[in-house]
Amino acid sequence: MKRRSFIGKAAIGLVTFTGVIAAITYLRQFFPRLAGEKRRIILSDPRKFPVDTFTFLEEHNLYVYRDHEGIKAVSAICTHLGCILEKSTDGFECPCHGSCYSSNGEVLSGPAPRDLAWYSVSSGADGKIVINPGKSVPPDEKFLTS
Ligand code: FES
Repeated sequence: MKRRSFIGKAAIGLVTFTGVIAAITYLRQFFPRLAGEKRRIILSDPRKFPVDTFTFLEEHNLYVYRDHEGIKAVSAICTHLGCILEKSTDGFECPCHGSCYSSNGEVLSGPAPRDLAWYSVSSGADGKIVINPGKSVPPDEKFLTS
């Protein structure tokens, strides 16, 4: 390959690459959920969640756990390839490739590479309970309601 030809192809490749990156950056604003930017979830009445139970919120792909002290929220998305987890007797199971998690979200068996994410739960300005999927917290952290 001649030098002039190589430089020309490299320049075209660089311009194409830059254009693709710019286009992706521009399009991300229209698809915030695909870009990993998650919206806060407002729980209208936390008392509707049964005590000592994980309740699946299908529209948000997470489980809400409520006990006598408070509320926690954990992702229902498998850390392997993103399938939605099902509740098992003592944790969560992935129907796709069989990963198992404890009720604390720890990986018990793979192929899941990491534990589940627990989300921040707090009180909004109007007193309603707010789940923030954009902010992770330790599994033992819960929003105290009592
Ligand atoms: S997507 Fe859950 S184990 Fe593969």
